[in-house]
Amino acid sequence: MSATQNAEDAGRSGLEGVVVADTVMSRVDGLAGHLVIRGYDVEVLAASARFEDVCALLWQGSTPGSEAGREAGREIGQARLRAHARLPGLGGALKLPNAMEALRAGIAQLSVEAEPELDPRYELVGACAVYAAAWARLRAGQQPVAPDPGRGHAEDYLRMVRGEEPGERAAALDAYLVTVADHGMNASTFTARVAASTDSDPVSIVTAALCSLKGPLHGGAPGPVLDMLDAVDTPDAAAEWVEAELAAGRRIMGIGHRVYRVRDPRAAVLERQVERLEIAGVALDRLSFARAVEKVAVDALQRRHPDRPLEANVEFYTAVLLDAVGLPRELFTPTFACARTAGWLAHAAEQKQNGRLIRPACRYTGPEPV
Ligand code: COA
Repeated sequence: MSATQNAEDAGRSGLEGVVVADTVMSRVDGLAGHLVIRGYDVEVLAASARFEDVCALLWQGSTPGSEAGREAGREIGQARLRAHARLPGLGGALKLPNAMEALRAGIAQLSVEAEPELDPRYELVGACAVYAAAWARLRAGQQPVAPDPGRGHAEDYLRMVRGEEPGERAAALDAYLVTVADHGMNASTFTARVAASTDSDPVSIVTAALCSLKGPLHGGAPGPVLDMLDAVDTPDAAAEWVEAELAAGRRIMGIGHRVYRVRDPRAAVLERQVERLEIAGVALDRLSFARAVEKVAVDALQRRHPDRPLEANVEFYTAVLLDAVGLPRELFTPTFACARTAGWLAHAAEQKQNGRLIRPACRYTGPEPV
């Protein structure tokens, strides 16, 4: 195949199946429905590790539960404090109406050159949580809640958003952050690796990745999933609602995946957490309804695309879980960003160590000079 032909095909295929890097971070097996994060099945990691452990695992290869995870927790806690101190200097960033725009604007104001003594990985992870929580508080007409560096990252984030003790909800959110911390060469991670390949700095890399995550085909889906569940309202109304959406040419959010041809394994991990909260009486009983809507949507898509399996992806149950822990839907994508920042930074370091400038080709289809 010629280089020109190859470029044309790549443009059409969205680089599907094209290997752009070797990585130790995660393996996504789309046929088996299996996710390994740096040597651990996602199910095992979500049941046994804290988010801080996963940061240490992704960034240093440290065993979950070891001192490295506790050290990461202390560093991230201190970074949350520094992020809180930066809030008054963020200008209008956190007043932007969209939470992802606010997060992007806030994060972009960090500077590795202004604070060279600080490890940008901790600053970025800490700032994501503090800025997202502060945005939600300000939006609700409340003052931001100061972080407590002695708490776990998930627990403190929830506390800063809700202004109350998170209780059982903290462990469920922690499991979510662990589950979505890394996932192969997704669009935002690829963006991070492209920026890293130019030898750009971590703040710029995360800012670029945030821009990719924002789109509804990637990280922007869970808010609309909750909108869908609200609009459907009862299981009996699901079929009619789904058919009307498809007839209007719209996609059903939370269904379908570029890599998975079976149900996304992370969906089951998140479902288990919702189940736990419902049994504990902490969350409303919404899981059985969500499962009913999922089945209707999957069946409808199966009829339309018999050759292309379209199953629930992580975002479907992200919506149910993040709603169950009490986060407002505007914070769903920023919360995803809080977790995925760990993966972006791990991939960026790997790209800088092993990679080369990512600079593909394109085929010129414009007019010839006259
Ligand atoms: N609802 C309706 N139709 C869908 C669909 C969905 N959720 N997902 C895929 N399809 C259809 C497409 O319209 C396309 O149909 P066509 O061949 O008649 O044009 C076909 O299935 C193949 O989809 P395609 O866009 O080629 O797959 P992809 O690999 O590029 O897309 C997603 C993957 C995730 C972007 C896609 O499934 C989607 O848009 N899902 C909804 C958004 C979402 O949940 N995003 C979070 C992902 S984790």
